[in-house]
Amino acid sequence: MAEPGNVWIFGYGSLIWRPDFAFERCTPARLQGWTRRFWQWSTDHRGVPQSPGRVVTLVPNPVGEVLGAAFEVEPAVYEHVMAKLDHREKGGYERVHTVATSSLGPLNVITYVGSPSNPNYAGPAPIDEIATTIAASVGPSGANIEYLVELSEALRRRGERDEHVEALRAAVERLG
Ligand code: SIN
Repeated sequence: MAEPGNVWIFGYGSLIWRPDFAFERCTPARLQGWTRRFWQWSTDHRGVPQSPGRVVTLVPNPVGEVLGAAFEVEPAVYEHVMAKLDHREKGGYERVHTVATSSLGPLNVITYVGSPSNPNYAGPAPIDEIATTIAASVGPSGANIEYLVELSEALRRRGERDEHVEALRAAVERLG
């Protein structure tokens, strides 16, 4: 059971494999009505303003479902954690309050979404074009390839193969 008063953060990108904030526990969780896409430019983590990388955002999709990780955060550290996450996700992401499903039951979660109106929204592009960007990009947090591979591995460890993520990983590997 979820503790009343505690908040859950839903991560679907780097937050899955590198949360880097204080949490009580973590559980796999799913969001219905969204699809994960590498449709967000990264100028502050996996690229730089002159050569942005590509990172994931959530795109509304009535038949979509996204596996991620939900992290339970205690009220005592909530403000500190949210300030840290707002800073980390400042490249165009906004907080969205929604409900995730999990083995603990429905969870009220906060997740960070880069919507089409944000300045770093990249939108769709052919897989090979996105893969070429990812293969070439590096930012203050490291190589864009690392972000892609860590995400793919984190999802595989949870028994999930996200088609878009796997297609990009294969395309980047083809590039050598
Ligand atoms: C997330 O991980 O949930 C948001 C996108 C990111 O920071 O990679």
